[in-house]
Amino acid sequence: MENKILVAYASKYGATKEIAEKIGEALKQEGLQADILPVKSVKNLAEYKAVVIGSGVYIAKWRKEAANFLKANEKLLSERPVWLFSTGPASKGDPVQLLKGWKFPKGLQPIADSIKPRDIAVFHGNINVEKMNFVEKWMMKQVKSEYGDFRDWDAITKWAKGIAEAVKK
Ligand SMILES: Cc1cc2nc3c(=O)[nH]c(=O)nc-3n(C[C@H](O)[C@H](O)[C@H](O)COP(=O)(O)O)c2cc1C
Repeated sequence: MENKILVAYASKYGATKEIAEKIGEALKQEGLQADILPVKSVKNLAEYKAVVIGSGVYIAKWRKEAANFLKANEKLLSERPVWLFSTGPASKGDPVQLLKGWKFPKGLQPIADSIKPRDIAVFHGNINVEKMNFVEKWMMKQVKSEYGDFRDWDAITKWAKGIAEAVKK
C-alpha cells in the first residue's frame, strides 16, 4: 500500500468538489500524497492508506453515487482509516446545529457502523440559485432557504490538518 490518501467526492454543483480540493491541498501541504477524485472515477481503492469521502446533501440524503460507493466498497473501507463529510447547510452558524444534530443520512448508518469512520464532519455549502433547476428553486422557496456561499475554508483546512496528523502517526 502506498502512502497515499484518497479524497473522493460526489458533487452536483461543485461545492463539495471544491471542498475536496481544499482538503487535498491541505493534506499535500502537510507533506502527504493525495488523489482528489469524483467517486465514480476511483479505480484502485486498495492502493490508498486512508480515505476521505464527501457528498453534497439533498433532502437529507447523500448523492446516489456516493451512497453506492460506500456500499460497493464497505469491506475495503472498513479495513483502513476513513473520514466522511457532508456538505449542506447554507446559513450562518454551526453547521451541525443548523441541521439539528444531523450529520449523515440515516439510510447509510449501517454502512457507517461497519466502516467505523474516524469522524463525520458537516460543512456549510453553497446554494447558487442560478445553477438550480425549476424544481430545486421551488423547493428552496418552500423551506425558505438562504442563498449564497457559506463554505468555511478555515474549518475545512483545520479538519484536513487533523486528518494529516492522524495519518502520519
Ligand atoms: C433541492 C435541494 C435540496 C437540498 N437539501 C439539503 C438538505 O437536506 N440538507 C442540507 O444541509 N442541504 C441541502 N441542500 C443544500 C446543498 O447541500 C448545498 O447546496 C451544497 O452546497 C450542494 O453541494 P454540491 O454542489 O457539491 O452538490 C439542498 C440543496 C438543493 C438544491
